[in-house]
Amino acid sequence: MRIYKAADYAAMSKLASDVVAAAVIKDPCCALGLATGSTPLGLYASLVARYEAGELDFSRTVFVNLDEYIGVAADDPNSYCSFMQRHFFSAVNARSVNINIPNGMADDTAAECRRYDELLEAHPVDVQVLGIGHDGHIGFNEPGDAFVPGTHAVELDARTISANARFFGAEENVPRRALTMGIGSIMRARTILLLAYGADKAEILARAIRGPVTPHVPASVLQLHADVRVIGDATALAELI
Ligand code: F6R
Repeated sequence: MRIYKAADYAAMSKLASDVVAAAVIKDPCCALGLATGSTPLGLYASLVARYEAGELDFSRTVFVNLDEYIGVAADDPNSYCSFMQRHFFSAVNARSVNINIPNGMADDTAAECRRYDELLEAHPVDVQVLGIGHDGHIGFNEPGDAFVPGTHAVELDARTISANARFFGAEENVPRRALTMGIGSIMRARTILLLAYGADKAEILARAIRGPVTPHVPASVLQLHADVRVIGDATALAELI
């Protein structure tokens, strides 16, 4: 693991954007694994700025998002699909045919998980962007007794529901279930960028990076990956370096 300590959120976002931009410039047809949440917003803004400056072309890039709420329609403003359109896809020349997000409205969840796993096999991810939850989740792989390899449905942890209430006005409005890419799929990405911002992530980040590898801290599995770059601001990395 390589750990990059950025002075602040803007510097963290710029560093992450450098890695993603390099991958797209090297191979415009690459596959990017993307995350939602607050942490990567600066990364997306930086990529949009580079696109607007003519530095990046996303017309052939494949996008594979980590997760989506179950029961939230794609056009609902709270869906991760809407989030990605708002903050990134609609602001660059991403082609809709290349945008992939699990369908949280699928009637047959098992079939949707299979479809997503097949898609991931067809498009191996070159760079996977991750945030980290306060309970150590990556994607929506919540703490449990085993690492789940493939795409699956999850019950969201109480801490995740509480953290995401800010997007829904109140905890009772937060969906209880989600579809998420599995740990095996995340680990197959060639390069993983784990982004962390803020003092409230310091303790879980230290447990994930220095603690035992255990499904009770899902992000700890990243210790076993050959190319993980942890990019955090000074407060998130306070317990590490
Ligand atoms: C989102 C996702 C989650 C978030 C995590 C951190 O697609 O997969 O794992 O990365 O919950 O969220 P923020 O960045 O809002 O603190």
